[in-house]
Amino acid sequence: MNMQPKHSADATTVEEGLAIQEEQSKFDSKAATDVAMQNTLLTPRFYTTDFDELDAIDVSSVREDWDKLIDQMESDPNKGHFKKNEDWDHVDWDNMEPKLKKEFIDFLISSCTAEFSGCVLYKEMKRRGSNSDITQLFQLMARDEARHAGFINDALREAGVAVNLGFLTQKKKYTYFRPKFIYYATYLSEKIGYARYITIFRHLEANPQHRFHPIFKWFEEWCNDEFSHGEAFALLMKTDPKLTSGVNVWWIKFFLTAVYATMYVRDHQRPAFHEALGVDPDWYAHEVFTKTSALTKQIFPITLDIENPRWQAGLVKLQKANADLARAKQDSGLGAMLRQVSAQARAATAFAGLFFIPAKRHQVPASTRMEPAY
Ligand SMILES: [Fe+2]
Ligand SMILES: [Fe+2]
Repeated sequence: MNMQPKHSADATTVEEGLAIQEEQSKFDSKAATDVAMQNTLLTPRFYTTDFDELDAIDVSSVREDWDKLIDQMESDPNKGHFKKNEDWDHVDWDNMEPKLKKEFIDFLISSCTAEFSGCVLYKEMKRRGSNSDITQLFQLMARDEARHAGFINDALREAGVAVNLGFLTQKKKYTYFRPKFIYYATYLSEKIGYARYITIFRHLEANPQHRFHPIFKWFEEWCNDEFSHGEAFALLMKTDPKLTSGVNVWWIKFFLTAVYATMYVRDHQRPAFHEALGVDPDWYAHEVFTKTSALTKQIFPITLDIENPRWQAGLVKLQKANADLARAKQDSGLGAMLRQVSAQARAATAFAGLFFIPAKRHQVPASTRMEPAY
């Protein structure tokens, strides 16, 4: 008898979830997969790391909080949640304003790739490890990310496109990051992911007329998964105080600046999408940075000074330089090449300007433990 569930939302392991995805891959489209294959500074990447070093982590110093978190993830409150049900309103893709449709599909592909990037990394850690604490955690996180990616692919399929996740696993380039960079980057992407999803969810709760697609109704439970994943990385970092002190604070500052700046630039490439949501991308960015900063105080000894006037001005410069760069890349000839070089230099200067704004220091609490509060 075939006991395999029919939908990735019901899968209890990452392997089950991916097998279901694989089954559907015959419907997947090349165009969407090509977009997901792109590796630029602004597109989601796949990562690999030193899995042995990760496997050697001893969580006994955070055992109490660790066990609570794992118990909660094992109880699996979101099993079965990530699939269409009666709340899934009909989406009129054919009559969607073309610019919005393009930007929204781009948003879904990019989100799907980001979710799947987490899935691939976590699954690999689970497969390679022998430390039962670590493999258990990574199995649970991979399970969630496979569901998230599968659900976005469901939404994309209605628009006639989908990302071929099996193909991506095999063919997309993997970027190597040392474990400590994986902690900073992944922790931040989980926490900023939570902040992004909950900010949109709360905004649409108050302004339902802007909910132009049903997937936003799922964002609350969704972001709670990301919140837990972030908690796990906070605990992992807590096991080694060196990771959040000394010269590493500069690395933390670098990752904070890079993650925030990337989000700002990427979101500003989707004006029609934000207009349809009734969201000003500058307000949204500030809101997400504020929430993420409050959360990351649980483990990072600094936060970026996002209230400093140089911060917003620097983001605008970076975004303009990036827009000019994209335009110059579409043209050919010496003039276009010079414009490219100049835009790249302006982008680098703007990023350095953001990075060197003095950060705010604070005392990190003894326990990292936090509950979703937004
Ligand atoms: Fe996720
Ligand atoms: Fe996650």
